[in-house]
Amino acid sequence: MYYLFLMLGDEHVEILRVAIRKSYLADEADILSDLIAESGLSPSQRQAITTQAIKLVEAVRSSSAPNIMESFLSEYGLNTTEGIALMCLAEALLRVPDTETIDALISDKIVPSHWGQHLGHSSSSLINASTWALMLTGRVLTATDEHGLVSALHDVVRRLGEPVVRTAVAQAMRELGRQFVLGQTIEEAVVNARPQEEKGYVYSYDMLGEAARTEADARRYHLAYSNAIGDLSGHCTADITQNPGISVKLSALHARYEVAQRDRVMDELAPRMRSLALLAKSANMGFNVDAEEADRLDLSLDVIETALSDPALSGWDGFGVVIQAYGPRAGPVIDWLYARASQLERRIMVRLVKGAYWDSEIKRAQVLGLEGFPVFTRKANTDVSYLACARKLLGMTDRLYPQFATHNAQSVAAVLELADDTSTFEFQRLHGMGEALHDAVLQEHGSRCRIYAPVGAHRDLLAYLVRRLLENGANSSFVNQIVDESISPEDVVRDPFDVVAQRGASLSNPVILQPENLFGAGRKAARGWDITDSTALARLDAARDPFHGARWHAAPLTAKQAGQVGTARELRNPADPADITGYVEDADPACVAATIGAAEQAFGAWSALGVDDRAALLERVADLYETHAAEFFAMAAREAGKTLPDAIAEVREAIDFLRYYATEARRLGREQPGSGRGTFVCISPWNFPLAIFTGQIAAALAGGNTVVAKPAEQTPLIAARAVRLMYEAGIPVDVIQLLPGDGPSVGAPLVSDPRVAGVSFTGSLATAQTINRALAENCAPDVVLVAETGGLNAMIVDSTALPEQAVRDIVASAFQSTGQRCSALRMLYVQIDVKDHILEMLYG
Ligand code: FAD
Ligand code: 2OP
Repeated sequence: MYYLFLMLGDEHVEILRVAIRKSYLADEADILSDLIAESGLSPSQRQAITTQAIKLVEAVRSSSAPNIMESFLSEYGLNTTEGIALMCLAEALLRVPDTETIDALISDKIVPSHWGQHLGHSSSSLINASTWALMLTGRVLTATDEHGLVSALHDVVRRLGEPVVRTAVAQAMRELGRQFVLGQTIEEAVVNARPQEEKGYVYSYDMLGEAARTEADARRYHLAYSNAIGDLSGHCTADITQNPGISVKLSALHARYEVAQRDRVMDELAPRMRSLALLAKSANMGFNVDAEEADRLDLSLDVIETALSDPALSGWDGFGVVIQAYGPRAGPVIDWLYARASQLERRIMVRLVKGAYWDSEIKRAQVLGLEGFPVFTRKANTDVSYLACARKLLGMTDRLYPQFATHNAQSVAAVLELADDTSTFEFQRLHGMGEALHDAVLQEHGSRCRIYAPVGAHRDLLAYLVRRLLENGANSSFVNQIVDESISPEDVVRDPFDVVAQRGASLSNPVILQPENLFGAGRKAARGWDITDSTALARLDAARDPFHGARWHAAPLTAKQAGQVGTARELRNPADPADITGYVEDADPACVAATIGAAEQAFGAWSALGVDDRAALLERVADLYETHAAEFFAMAAREAGKTLPDAIAEVREAIDFLRYYATEARRLGREQPGSGRGTFVCISPWNFPLAIFTGQIAAALAGGNTVVAKPAEQTPLIAARAVRLMYEAGIPVDVIQLLPGDGPSVGAPLVSDPRVAGVSFTGSLATAQTINRALAENCAPDVVLVAETGGLNAMIVDSTALPEQAVRDIVASAFQSTGQRCSALRMLYVQIDVKDHILEMLYG
């Protein structure tokens, strides 16, 4: 009986995990209507929440100690160029070691902005003073003065000189950072925590550091966390809710915390997390796993599961998980945690946040061409989700300990309204934020509140700081609106259910372009495949499966097929020579002339077809490429040795080329109607056997030219498959012909034929020059050569760059696509003062 129960329980839990995965990019409108139903708030409850929230806003606004930094960040919101300039300065300035670069950075960021516009806006004299300081700094560096006061002050500052400006700006940026960090070391932080503890707050300490790039950094962060738990253990009592806690980012504990490295993550990261959790258990502390990017959620649940099911951690109520309400998976994750906690007969802490990575989630989905977004696209939708999740959590307090982390008075008021018993949950706020609001709640309701307090040095602060600046600077944020007295309290706390109801059917945000609309109305962006999404990956694997042992065949594809075959060759996977991918019958060089003749003959009709019809055919090819993407992925891997991410990028680039040339040809055709030039020869390389091959052909065809294409001798199979799809789309056989073969036997006669109107070539400089000479000797004076050859591309990294980001981009640019992009990084120049650190991280 018991065994059966366990089996059913496991199945139930597994179903809940599947539900989480399925909701990754769920339709926003569908999810929202469920959430509205689940929240079940009556009109009178909503009215009570609004009344309470207005009271809180009034209390915050009349509080004796308004938060200067919140006001400052509100004045320089991210919708002003000055706000963005300040954010860039704050992010970069303090890591720059040399005065020359500091001065250059200050001048770069401050001079172009209009600081004078902010004068007198703010009721705080400090903010006006900082505005003056920044404006003057701008003046010093521009040396232009318009009116007397500025001119006089300008002289003073000029007399003091650049060192003073430098020190003042650095000091201001240090203050900005200090606002959000409790201490440089855990010892210092514990001391700095005392005043708030005396008021009744408790803390969760976060050792700064995330997105470790190297094993050494991951170990450093791991040690910092271990030491912090050790230090804090002395402050713990028998009541875990009253004890300090610790908040950990899994990305700090491993340099390859990504789905593609799942085995390593489970073997190396999970034990690291476990060791910290064991320490926290011994200390009777809360141990919280922060939520990070959406593509890591599923993986993080695997890691979390290892801790939940670990017998050594049973009987401890301190393990905590963060749920981000801005994503459609929040509800299913809560259900899963509740089921797991019930199964394990333990209690789990659950911090409910809205989410701190919204901007990057939107951008990532657009760049990868996903089917939707892993986050909501309207602020009110996130707020509704938060309340629905809050209600759910408050109904599960037998197994979950809800921790409501928000600085929004409306969300706080709603939790207070929904909860029957303030002892079953706690509020949380970030150090340096929401102080007046939570002071008011603490005083009036006596509910518990925990402060999340980052601890560490400035060099590890930056990613965190940028999220805080985004949060404070975005005009959609509650913390941004509450300090803007021109917004009435009623508007600041508008009921999100009302906002959603008023929108009617348009629940998602039309201003945020869906990934496929990224290139504007006229051109659909290639769809993507997200290989961090296990559901999508399983579908993709199933679609690729039939091509694992497949053998393809390439041969000349011409108007007169018979008698054109020269020698046949076997092709093998360059990454696995035992894998035969197919065979190719190369073109007989003797057939080149006839092939060009056929292209010449086809030219008139193709050119006369008109740009709209040609563009429509190219778009049909693009759609066929998308339909056959799985086969192309398999071919890119087996014929060209590509990794899956590179194969996906390759196919998407080819599709984008087709649609791009179709759209551009239509536009140019309208602006300057004309005809094609004649027959083009397209010669492409093996490094991008589909994308470059297709791009050259699509450009020539769109312009009304006919094409004879010679693919790289290493990758004719994928080229032949592509040309067959072009025929399937309706492009005539004599308009695009394929002649597989090598350069000397097939390429040379092609580019020496006097009837050729142009050549598109991508490859080595030496071959481009050979072609250039052949064209000069044999062809008409107006023959066109479009050649893309190898480059020696350089990257310059100075000390204003965040090393983690620079290293990520250096690695991608130099080594993705096996470093075989024409645009691949070949020369790296690093500012000498930061060279050791950057190189150490790069090698690591
Ligand atoms: P509000 O201003 O009411 O809400 C801001 C939220 O709305 C943000 O999530 C923002 O992305 C979202 N939003 C803005 N515009 C839109 C839009 N157009 N469509 C949809 N949503 C939109 N965050 C994490 O990600 N992981 C953590 O582990 C984490 N831990 C935290 C711990 C504590 C104690 C606290 C207080 C916060 C934590 N956060 C974490 C940060 C948290 O996500 C933000 O502070 C929070 O989003 C702010 O919410 P709010 O209710 O205070 O503000
Ligand atoms: C963040 O790091 C607080 O975890 C949250 O932004």
